[in-house]
Amino acid sequence: MVRILLDCDTGIDDALALMYLAGLHRLGEIELVGVTTTAGNTSATQAAINSHFVLAACGVTVPVAVGENMPMMLDLVTTPETHGIYGLGYLIPEPCDVDFHWMRLWEEDVDKLIVTGPATNAAAWGRINADVTLMGGAYNYPGNTTPTAEWNSWVDPHAAKSFFQFNSATVCSLGVTERFTLDPGSLAEVISALGPAPIATFLPEMLRFYFEFHQAHGEGYLAQIHDLITCMVALGKVPVITRPATIDVEASTGWLRGTTVADLKNHWHRPPNAQLVTDVDIPAAHRELLRVCELFGATFRY
Ligand code: RIB
Ligand code: CA
Repeated sequence: MVRILLDCDTGIDDALALMYLAGLHRLGEIELVGVTTTAGNTSATQAAINSHFVLAACGVTVPVAVGENMPMMLDLVTTPETHGIYGLGYLIPEPCDVDFHWMRLWEEDVDKLIVTGPATNAAAWGRINADVTLMGGAYNYPGNTTPTAEWNSWVDPHAAKSFFQFNSATVCSLGVTERFTLDPGSLAEVISALGPAPIATFLPEMLRFYFEFHQAHGEGYLAQIHDLITCMVALGKVPVITRPATIDVEASTGWLRGTTVADLKNHWHRPPNAQLVTDVDIPAAHRELLRVCELFGATFRY
């Protein structure tokens, strides 16, 4: 069975990714070895509390550990305006004890590492043996944080740059992940499919905050679920098109902070360090989400 480690900054779309992985774990389709957190959407400690909350509501117990709580070189900037004061929209998760020994989980033998927050832990670790899939960057595509930068890359650009100096990854960037959205109608389908699964009761207040954020930013009353589609890509659950690329990141504090660039034509004469996802089957992703929610929900029926 494929062994998965999720490194995330549990905000709302990370929470849906965690729900999906927890469902697959409970179904025996994967082994979720653990969850480690970085600071981004919220603090690394709050992201761990949020992850515990989501896993408990999914009826799954796996190790969660707080990772690096600051970007490599810069001050931490979080985004309560996007994910809510605690990172889960309007929800206020119960505080809980958290473990800080995140490197013990990274020492585990895992097949796939999925990174859905800033690459701070990944950069602190160095060379990674597992197959990595990372959500981040905007390639020939508008940023969501600055005109050229995506949030994960902007929060910790030095970590993103360092990660790609020592590792390669399958990269899900905004040009792909912004296309995977939920709206009130598709959320209702997910909730219906989840049935008696306790997590279903928390989704409305989690997603309402995210719908309102996206509406306020001209995207419509919907939510871009970046991290969930990234997990589906990582697990090979949806058809994708990828192409080799050499990625580098602007690690500075200027206007171009966190700008990501993919060399697709070997201008730099540097070996590729990424398989850049350029297209994904979005309808298939929605079908996969409902498939897992229905099977996962059925495990709560007696
Ligand atoms: O830019 C989108 C990414 O930033 C997602 O991972 C979201 O959770 C935020 O961390
Ligand atoms: Ca995230």
